[in-house]
Amino acid sequence: MIPKGQRPYAKGTSMLGSKGDWRASPENLSHAQTVLDAVADSGTLYRDGLGMIASENIVSPMVQKIVSSDLHGRYAEGLPFKRYYQGCGDFDTIEELGINLAKKLFNVPFANIQSTSGTVSNIAALKALAKPGDDITAVSTADGGHISHARMGAVGLRDLNLSTYPWDEERMEPDIDASAKLIREVAPKIALFGQSVFLFPTPLKELADAAHEVGSTVMYDGAHVLGLIAGGCFQDPLHEGADVMTGSSHKTFPGPQGGFILSSSDDEKFQRKLNNAVFPGTCSSYHLHHVAGKVVALSEFIEYGEDLSKNTVANAQSFAAALAAEGFDVLAESRGYTASHQVLTRHGELDSGAGAKAADLLERAGIITNMNMLPGDTKAMSPSGLRLGVQELTRVGMGTDEMTDVARFYARVLLEQEDPSKVKADVREFKSNYQIIRYCFNEGNASGYPM
Ligand SMILES: Cc1ncc(COP(=O)(O)O)c(C=O)c1O
Repeated sequence: MIPKGQRPYAKGTSMLGSKGDWRASPENLSHAQTVLDAVADSGTLYRDGLGMIASENIVSPMVQKIVSSDLHGRYAEGLPFKRYYQGCGDFDTIEELGINLAKKLFNVPFANIQSTSGTVSNIAALKALAKPGDDITAVSTADGGHISHARMGAVGLRDLNLSTYPWDEERMEPDIDASAKLIREVAPKIALFGQSVFLFPTPLKELADAAHEVGSTVMYDGAHVLGLIAGGCFQDPLHEGADVMTGSSHKTFPGPQGGFILSSSDDEKFQRKLNNAVFPGTCSSYHLHHVAGKVVALSEFIEYGEDLSKNTVANAQSFAAALAAEGFDVLAESRGYTASHQVLTRHGELDSGAGAKAADLLERAGIITNMNMLPGDTKAMSPSGLRLGVQELTRVGMGTDEMTDVARFYARVLLEQEDPSKVKADVREFKSNYQIIRYCFNEGNASGYPM
């Protein structure tokens, strides 16, 4: 047990060294203290609350240690054993191991583990696979596609012409026949699949066939569902027709913030293009501490990931059913609500801002979520829905029974209009039982949050 005054992150604890601080200006010291206090507060918020933003997760103690290591300040441009700088020998060992573990986990011949985020992975893949002026097909942001799939994001940055798939609102996936027709008509350089609002696997086999027929490269953005894919609980895009899969390393894949690029292609020229698109294409330093953290997260995932993914999906399904039983409007009932870590709920009329209001009330009760556009909404800042994720709650040991307890908190705040501060006290008490990170090495010693 760390003595109270020395606990890292405890609010008011000065982490500033005493020696020499007398020479620093009080104003500058106070800026640093402001940051330290805000870090402490943020840690406390998630320690005492329910983190349910679908793109977030927490990292294991071993990964926490690595991301704050000396590697943080180092450079290793190039690929293992082909560097521009001296001093990279130890990092070569790390990165080579990570590439091999990623290839093993996803059962593919190519992995690049350097990119610093899912968005950077997408920018790099678009750079490798298309030229400015080429066509691309993707899911529209209104239907759940990510901003990097849009003209306002990476697709525009690469100056690609975007056509979006006709959407099946009932099934929450691309309309198969109409999308295959679009792909055959446009013959895009890249047929991109995958979403940020991602309840069900993409009907990839059918659409990849259409894309390959007209010479397109099939790219799948697995940012959200990468851990579920790796754990064998969603779909296996690279064995269902995708040529390239990008993803984040910190959503359902529970590593430090970063990205992956994976490919089913054995073609060395194609693989070189992907590598070159990350370095020197998009990154110089690629955050070695996070790469090393990803490698440990990969080894932890190979050990525990199947259980983690299975339990995450089971929890999402149980949470959706419990919310529906409380009286919430949960989307996609006819398909069993969800096959991923996400659940979507509607809280009022389209474009009414009811989602924003619900998210605000929940935050006051210590439940952290995000408002989200649902089918038919047109305004990103005043949507009718919430997108909820259970991956972090699963990581700290909650199971399907606890999902019913969590749904009850939602009902108290949003349906029974109980004072959120009263609910917050109960949320805190409930969460105090779930402070240990599971599915990682050193589990017994793995406090997930600041003490
Ligand atoms: C489908 C999709 N792709 C890419 C990203 C971007 O990932 P990152 O935040 O790692 O850049 C997201 C983020 O949530 C996403 O939903």
